[in-house]
Amino acid sequence: MKIINFGSINIDHVYTVEHFVKPGETLKSKTYKTFLGGKGANQSFALARAGARVLHAGKIGKDGQWLKDKLQESGVDTALIQKVDLSTGHALIQVNAQGENAIILHGGANESFTDTDIKKVLSQGNPGDFLLLQNEINSVDKILQMGANKGLTIVFNPAPMRDEVKSYPLEYVDIFIINELEGEALTGEKNPQKIVSAIQGLYPKSKTVLTLGKEGLLYKDKDKSIKMDALKVQAIDTTGAGDTFIGYFLAELSQGQEIEKCLEMGIKASSICIGREGAADSIPTREEVHRL
Ligand code: RIB
Repeated sequence: MKIINFGSINIDHVYTVEHFVKPGETLKSKTYKTFLGGKGANQSFALARAGARVLHAGKIGKDGQWLKDKLQESGVDTALIQKVDLSTGHALIQVNAQGENAIILHGGANESFTDTDIKKVLSQGNPGDFLLLQNEINSVDKILQMGANKGLTIVFNPAPMRDEVKSYPLEYVDIFIINELEGEALTGEKNPQKIVSAIQGLYPKSKTVLTLGKEGLLYKDKDKSIKMDALKVQAIDTTGAGDTFIGYFLAELSQGQEIEKCLEMGIKASSICIGREGAADSIPTREEVHRL
């Protein structure tokens, strides 16, 4: 069973800073590096490292060939990545002394998908294949609807969360992977248990993984509720930790593993990612995750 990940590809410009820049302040960064990033690309990278069969559908500009090469080297099928006459999407990322980040995004090529592109990508899917989506490209609502019509299993990570997400046809989502803030924006609830129950109430056939950072996660479907703790790690850079979780979780799921095992692999992989710099570059290999 394969996974089609229709998502963003970014160049991440990462600045380590003592604290996040304040209004009117000019702040000198301690270091500056560029990395492969984008929620979509990070998740494909993690899926490939976890051993899953993943096709990434995305767009880059002329400056983005190295991103495609890097995805291909990691084992991602990149045949559906197009090069277009626009700038590659990019992110300006500040990482503070606590390892937290603040991100400014520029969509660039990530926001140029046409109906023809969407049809072409989805023609590669067969009923039962997974379609993984985030909210960093245009036309997510259309892709979701068309993917469901094709009988694909829809996994949706509504990040970055925006108000428009509520108007997407979310009744077609099979699995939500969502953090606390996104969950609150979607349901109006603050308490994690209430968030997962509210999602279940709104979309009864869906399964939800609610990630809670240092507090671990909650999982809920119509038959099961699971609470799992996070591993204790010293945070160097949390960028891409959620994406790493998603890649490892879904890789296990696509290989028919029990849900507990899928969640556990996701937690282990993301805890390794947090202890390293960068997004895709900080995603561990399967061997490293097993060794933990
Ligand atoms: O989830 C982390 C990602 O968010 C970064 O790689 C950055 O590109 C932004 O899209």
